[in-house]
Amino acid sequence: MAHKSPDPDLFYSLYTGIFKPQMIRLAIQIDLFSMLDDDPLSCPELAEACQCHPQGLQSLLDYLVAVQLLNCIQGKYSNTPTSAAFLNRRRKSFAGDWFMVETSPAVWDGFLQALRYGQPAYPIIPFEQDAWLESYRTPRLESSLEMWHAAGIDPMLNIPIRILDIACGCGIKSFALLQTNPSARVVCIDRPEVLDVSTCLAGRMGVRTRSSFRKGDLSTISLGSSEFNAALLGQITYYLTPDQNLELFDRIFTALLPGGLLLIDAAMRMEQPEEASSMIDFLTWASSGGGAYPFDAYKRWLLASGYQMVEQIGSTWLKAVK
Ligand SMILES: C[S@@+](CC[C@H](N)C(=O)[O-])C[C@H]1O[C@@H](n2cnc3c(N)ncnc32)[C@H](O)[C@@H]1O
Repeated sequence: MAHKSPDPDLFYSLYTGIFKPQMIRLAIQIDLFSMLDDDPLSCPELAEACQCHPQGLQSLLDYLVAVQLLNCIQGKYSNTPTSAAFLNRRRKSFAGDWFMVETSPAVWDGFLQALRYGQPAYPIIPFEQDAWLESYRTPRLESSLEMWHAAGIDPMLNIPIRILDIACGCGIKSFALLQTNPSARVVCIDRPEVLDVSTCLAGRMGVRTRSSFRKGDLSTISLGSSEFNAALLGQITYYLTPDQNLELFDRIFTALLPGGLLLIDAAMRMEQPEEASSMIDFLTWASSGGGAYPFDAYKRWLLASGYQMVEQIGSTWLKAVK
């Protein structure tokens, strides 16, 4: 709704959200959470370990308790389960670099350059750390089953089905289906460091023996010919340019069996501007020349690659049949 007078509260709300990530950046930069890997420590002990001034550190510690990244019992601080898993550098599941990249002034300067000159910034993104985070998001199990169901693959049916999950990340979307259909198998493709995460999650979810892993770049790796009943492109097409998508859709067409299904999960631009998809549209364009393409663009590209029955089956899901 258009306001008729200036709104200072709107102005404050536009920038104050930045304070929280900046405070957490400071804690990551002094490696605070890694210092709490063993025993709880007091503020003076942490000040020494992190080489900080105790007075400033005391305020930061209080803030981190308030935002649930630290516990404090009788003046001794310890990590919460979230900071222990994702902000302690000594854990495999450390995701602090992901946090630093997403909030990095240098990365946002790169986006400014992209905005001025139209060249993507190509920041180095530690996708394996995002995969660790995603591998702990259990609500995604249910939404993944909903996605397969909407695509016409009933997760409850015990039928042999071979899936190709390209840019699989932690793999949770395919593993959810493998858990409910004991005859389903998946081939996961991603970068080697990300496949460490998906291999680990396949073990945790009890589907390791029906999952195989191929490391490589999706633009060059062989996808085979007439091998798969379904292929999944989850949250990857918006990082790719239109030409890269077209080329990938062609190769997936060859990899699918006749009647096979391509399922795409991606934010799509709406007719009316909307906060989440327009932000993804800008960020993916500025980082790699991609975009939150509208359904009509996908439909055009997929029909050009020979697919039929291209249908939008959810706000972020679409399917096409070979
Ligand atoms: C946002 S994650 C999506 C993960 C998963 N498919 C999902 O839907 O949650 C994007 C994934 O694409 C992978 N990726 C990006 N570019 C790639 C490339 N050129 N080759 C292989 N994997 C790539 C990243 O490593 C990352 O795991």
